[in-house]
Amino acid sequence: MTGPVLAVDQGTSGTKALVVCPERGVLGTGFAAVTPRYLPGGLVEVDPAELYGSVLDAGRRALAEAGEDVVALGLANQGETVLAWDPGSGRPLTDALVWQDRRAETVCAELAPHAEELRRLTGLPLDPYFAAPKMAWIRRHRTREGVVTTSDAWLVHRLTGTFVTDAATAGRTQLLDLDRAQWSPRALEIYGLSGERLPQVAGNAQPIGTTSAYGRDIPLTGLAVDQQAALLAQRVTGPGRAKCTYGTGAFLLAHTGGTPRRGTSGLVSCVAWRLAGDTSYCLDGQVYTAASAVRWLTDLGVISSAADLDPVGGAVPDSGGVTFVPALAGLAAPWWRGDVRGSLTGLGLDTGPGHVVRALCEGLAAQVAELAEAAAADLGSPLDVLRVDGGLTRSALLMQTQADLLQRPVEVSALPDATALGAAALARLGADRTLSVEDALPDGKPAAVYEPRIPADQAAERRAGFRSAVAALLGS
Ligand code: G3P
Repeated sequence: MTGPVLAVDQGTSGTKALVVCPERGVLGTGFAAVTPRYLPGGLVEVDPAELYGSVLDAGRRALAEAGEDVVALGLANQGETVLAWDPGSGRPLTDALVWQDRRAETVCAELAPHAEELRRLTGLPLDPYFAAPKMAWIRRHRTREGVVTTSDAWLVHRLTGTFVTDAATAGRTQLLDLDRAQWSPRALEIYGLSGERLPQVAGNAQPIGTTSAYGRDIPLTGLAVDQQAALLAQRVTGPGRAKCTYGTGAFLLAHTGGTPRRGTSGLVSCVAWRLAGDTSYCLDGQVYTAASAVRWLTDLGVISSAADLDPVGGAVPDSGGVTFVPALAGLAAPWWRGDVRGSLTGLGLDTGPGHVVRALCEGLAAQVAELAEAAAADLGSPLDVLRVDGGLTRSALLMQTQADLLQRPVEVSALPDATALGAAALARLGADRTLSVEDALPDGKPAAVYEPRIPADQAAERRAGFRSAVAALLGS
């Protein structure tokens, strides 16, 4: 099947839509902002109506700009964001608890004796980041009505009337049996969710339903969690390669092939995608706050936008002894200490905005370097290169710092919207069974490559400084 597809990337801070043509590239783009509420106590909520509205707005804008019909729709979603809703009317029964929300820490504390069993079953550690703790929290504290699901299932229901999630998103719940890629009765039992009506787990590229939300009938044929969509667009389709997307958070994913690899380095083991009945797996490491941390600096008035990172940070030669652990929503892999918060140390009367900006770039890059090292340890060989995408890759300062601390080349994707392009590839694959994965993927040539510019011993010293700052937070 040929013809353009509409790809929608429903992310934490906004929804991006592209109309993508296999021959002529991107024909139209649309964006609609989403504004999560950051509340005291680590609570992060968003109005579900805003999520759905942004999916419609961004898609309509992209279609209007393209001025052409599309043959299929692909949807990428923000993963572990959860809400309760009425399957009869589609009406939300709660706000959506965003993946960054920490309120389900109480659920996790209570289930601590089951942590190892859950990790063995699902590949995921016990942490409020994932969907199941939030689902259990909603059931205990908000409502027992309706269904409680990840936001994709609600969006898909609004769009098509079907009750479906995809294997990759289901793999982010801690309710999916990782080996069988099906809901795990035991995990559901542990969470007290055994009686729940759960969406059908679909492959990532297959006909799911048809939507008329954009004014014409469009089949939904691609569905994935956003990080896995970016993994696909970055052509990380086999073991030994990795990508990092610097969005609201930063997420490093390494492909592990057709069998799940339960690492020992603290990374998450989860489904990369299920295509034509074959499930592939990946390791995933997370920095909960990347662009969120930049936004925090912006809110404090240190910089006026992310575009300031390079001019402000570039005005000073180094971080002037300042160390920033940007754990503003806790620490994920490999530490799994959601309860700790960030630190900014080494401040002096001579500390200026440039030093703080550089310290933030170092903190983000050091954290990603830890994840890359953990992935390499689990894979049994070092990553030869890191492919990167997402808004913050526009910062040359951050990317150079990343290459320096990683001591590996960093290849910046030429695809500023890798996630949406992954969703587009899935939509095409789902609409056309004769298409190969290779043919569905965009060109993988990088726009820029950053080589390390500092010697290994200097990188090791800077990373040791970051580790000490993390150790101080962890109390060890
Ligand atoms: O796990 C959450 C993540 O997938 C959200 O991605 O692009 O909204 O930062 P993003």
